[in-house]
Amino acid sequence: PRHFAIVPAAGSGSRMGAVQPKQYLPLLGAPLIRHSLEVLCATPEIDKVFVVLSVGDAEWKRHDWSALGPKLVPLFCGGATRADSVLGGLRAIANEAEQSDWVLVHDAARPCLARWHIEKLIRGLAHDEVGGLLAVPVADTLKRADAHHHVVATVPRDSLWQAQTPQMFRYVMLRRALEAATDVTDEASAIEAAGLRPRLIEGDATNLKVTYPLDLHLAEWILNNRES
Ligand code: C5P
Repeated sequence: PRHFAIVPAAGSGSRMGAVQPKQYLPLLGAPLIRHSLEVLCATPEIDKVFVVLSVGDAEWKRHDWSALGPKLVPLFCGGATRADSVLGGLRAIANEAEQSDWVLVHDAARPCLARWHIEKLIRGLAHDEVGGLLAVPVADTLKRADAHHHVVATVPRDSLWQAQTPQMFRYVMLRRALEAATDVTDEASAIEAAGLRPRLIEGDATNLKVTYPLDLHLAEWILNNRES
């Protein structure tokens, strides 16, 4: 089977408090999204990289992406939610993808994706029926609280993981799961709702999601201190 990447980048980034959607925020002199697109395009196992942009995206064309090569394909078919954007991408590549091809969905907002993250995920799931995702064990003690911030319970953290991306599933399974799903924040939860069990592949904390302004500084530090 082949491996296609889909990068949803049709969000507005309202939590960053910035005017610009976060995929285009400057990070080390390039739009944030460019860092993970470069890594995905440079990974030999990945056949193509589809970026899902909002229909009205005016920023993509202002940049020169030619250095990333012919694997990179923009699709202007973003939806109202992240899941809608991914589904739009899956529908748009229907002519190209075989049922059993793998799709790796990666958030545009995770700029510190490294080659080893992708390769560990692909290797770890190569013989899996369903697929799975990168994740890291939760390090903090977690509290459940009521509306007045009073602790209701301490949640044992030993079996808890933080979901990251890429999340890798078979084309047809992912498409069916997303078409049936409502209110999911990632692909894995759609797969779970379909009664299947995604597998976790341990990644690391460097693959962070840029949500708040501090995350941009952390991302810059991580990219500057990367060995290769
Ligand atoms: O906002 P959040 O960090 O959860 O967004 C995760 C990813 O989903 C981002 O890359 C964002 O651009 C993308 N997204 C999208 N379409 C939406 C909302 C978010 O492609 N409607």
